[in-house]
Amino acid sequence: MITVRFVTPGPHGPVQDREVEVPPDGRSLMKAAVDAGIDGIAADCGGSLTCATCHVFVTEPWLERLPPVSADEDTMLDYTADERRANSRLSCQIHLTPELDGLTVELPKRQY
Ligand code: FES
Repeated sequence: MITVRFVTPGPHGPVQDREVEVPPDGRSLMKAAVDAGIDGIAADCGGSLTCATCHVFVTEPWLERLPPVSADEDTMLDYTADERRANSRLSCQIHLTPELDGLTVELPKRQY
């Protein structure tokens, strides 16, 4: 199992900070979040890269360890409800492998 951490930042520290154990079988970070009932990942399209409601901010050093953003993901990142940042990714495009044990992402304020 690998551990992934979902953080909802607030003005005085995290308002939600959850660690989830996930089999390292390549499932998406979005699926891991939905299965664990993480608030803030809507994933309306179920991972078909058409909704941008699985937006996350990837913390360092994890961002540089991820595969690059594809052209389609880059396009969809322009439609996120919360502001797009340099560390924005769509969690349905992040596949969990053993190398990502400890991956930590922040959740945006909103997904709609
Ligand atoms: S779940 Fe819709 S774009 Fe990721």
